[in-house]
Amino acid sequence: MTANELRAAYVRFFRERGHVEIPSAPLVPEHDPTVLFTTAGMHPLVPFLLGNAHPAGRRLVNCQKCVRTGDIEEVGDPVHLTFFEMLGNWSLGDYFKREAIQWSHEFLTGPHWLNLPVRRLAVSVFQGDADAPFDQEAYDTWRGLGIPDERIARLPKKNNWWGPAGQTGPCGPDTEMFCWTGEGEPPAAFDAEDGRWVEIWNDVFMQYNKTADGRYEPLAQKNVDTGMGVERVSAILQGRASCYETDLFTPLFAGIQALCGVENPAHNRGARIVAEHLRAATFLMADGVKPGNVDQAYVLRRLIRRAIREARKLGVTAPFTRGLGDIVIHEYRDVYPELATAAATIGEEFAREEAQFEETLERGTREFAKLVAAFPAHVARKQLSGRKAFHLYETYGFPLELTEEMARESGFEVDRAGFEEAYQKHQELSRKGAEQRFKGGLADQSEQTAALHTATHLLHAALRRVLGNHVQQAGSNITAERLRFDFSHPDRVTPEQLAQVEALVNEAIAANAPVSCQEMSLQEAQASGAIGLFGDRYGERVKVYRVEGFSAEICGGPHVSSTGGMGRFKIQKEESSSRGVRRIKAVLEKTA
Ligand code: ALA
Repeated sequence: MTANELRAAYVRFFRERGHVEIPSAPLVPEHDPTVLFTTAGMHPLVPFLLGNAHPAGRRLVNCQKCVRTGDIEEVGDPVHLTFFEMLGNWSLGDYFKREAIQWSHEFLTGPHWLNLPVRRLAVSVFQGDADAPFDQEAYDTWRGLGIPDERIARLPKKNNWWGPAGQTGPCGPDTEMFCWTGEGEPPAAFDAEDGRWVEIWNDVFMQYNKTADGRYEPLAQKNVDTGMGVERVSAILQGRASCYETDLFTPLFAGIQALCGVENPAHNRGARIVAEHLRAATFLMADGVKPGNVDQAYVLRRLIRRAIREARKLGVTAPFTRGLGDIVIHEYRDVYPELATAAATIGEEFAREEAQFEETLERGTREFAKLVAAFPAHVARKQLSGRKAFHLYETYGFPLELTEEMARESGFEVDRAGFEEAYQKHQELSRKGAEQRFKGGLADQSEQTAALHTATHLLHAALRRVLGNHVQQAGSNITAERLRFDFSHPDRVTPEQLAQVEALVNEAIAANAPVSCQEMSLQEAQASGAIGLFGDRYGERVKVYRVEGFSAEICGGPHVSSTGGMGRFKIQKEESSSRGVRRIKAVLEKTA
């Protein structure tokens, strides 16, 4: 079964069982500062898992683009990926454990579906602890479907519990499904530690809300959240040892082979890194990320530069990233139309970043030569300090291995331990930064956050009035303390314009305008003049939030019910975000 057939079968299976297909959300979460990327299909659904009504109903299915960067250094082995696709079905307070498990079983083993032999399957369930009991219902359901006891592992929270990427929010026990990928028949008993049992699907039963003080409150609405990795399951269905050997990567490897003649690229670590990273980069750019030095932009830059370095080692000299990006676009454009829409920009960004990296490498090489030349001649031990190696890494993007390679050529060694120390210190600093992100976010339904959401709509509408209708949202990020809004506009916004915008928003707040929400079809929303990002990012039905007399915008919420009492709107900063995109940070100051 091809990956395209797998996606289609999954969606059809759940549509036939009353689910509505929703489009993949963008890779960069909207309004959510807790994570840089959408890491699972449930992530964009958090407000709905917490009880807000989803306009498409209570049974949803989709294929979600995800990025996880925790294991970026592992990419190149047979299993790790930064970008992957996750198939998922959701129940928002509708069906629960029994139906979810029965359907998982039917889809995996049914002759018209994946048709995997039951004897190659095993599952795990939550064993229970002080926070929540053993998942008897999940266990009984699997037994009822004929899965023998020795193929059902009972595992602790570490394995069988799932929550959002942030610290708080909806979570619960899960049951995971595994498929035997080893030679011959699997052993009778399931051992979750044996890597030949590969996890293929996870059904999460979200029945708790983890609070900021670490308690697990039962959720009034019990949900199901499931996730099945397209790449992994494709490998199993296609009888391949790794996802790099599936049809998802074949065209990319053909492209890489044409560039440098590498043999058997699907088994070559460097070629895998090139293919994986450029696939991820292409998808990130389709969702508006541009290479840069912070946050998502930095991850993107790192992916592209790592791919370039690996390609060099394989002997690729001419610019190549754009060409490989085109292959990704061509292969995925039918599933993710945003790739085709952004094709020209993606190509330009690849070319620009590749040229810029070339220059950086040259400057770094010169810097390196200077370091070597300045080394005191009387010191016998020719060692480059860890601090200097780290400087080359941080400023010129020189990985340690590259510095070591160059050092060796000049008869030097590098203080590896010193480098590690400088690197750890840097990591700690960025981790601190990351921890500070864990406030607000989609799981935060507080009044202050709702007020900032509403303020964002007012700001958007005010910007369009003052600057013109070319202003469009390019990104939004809300913490409990402030809002950050990115929008398309070619020039700096002048202080006078900012003052006008601020005044308009405060006028709307002073008017105590009622905020109402209406569900309608996307066409109706468009016809009614509501703003928001049209195109493929919403499903058929959407919510339009209207601030009477001021704005109407498509959004998932949450919002305040009227604008009075939101506080005083104050713009703190206006700056460039990327080419053609400006960024405003603003707060709501408490008024007496
Ligand atoms: N959200 C669950 C996961 O990512 C399904 O595994």
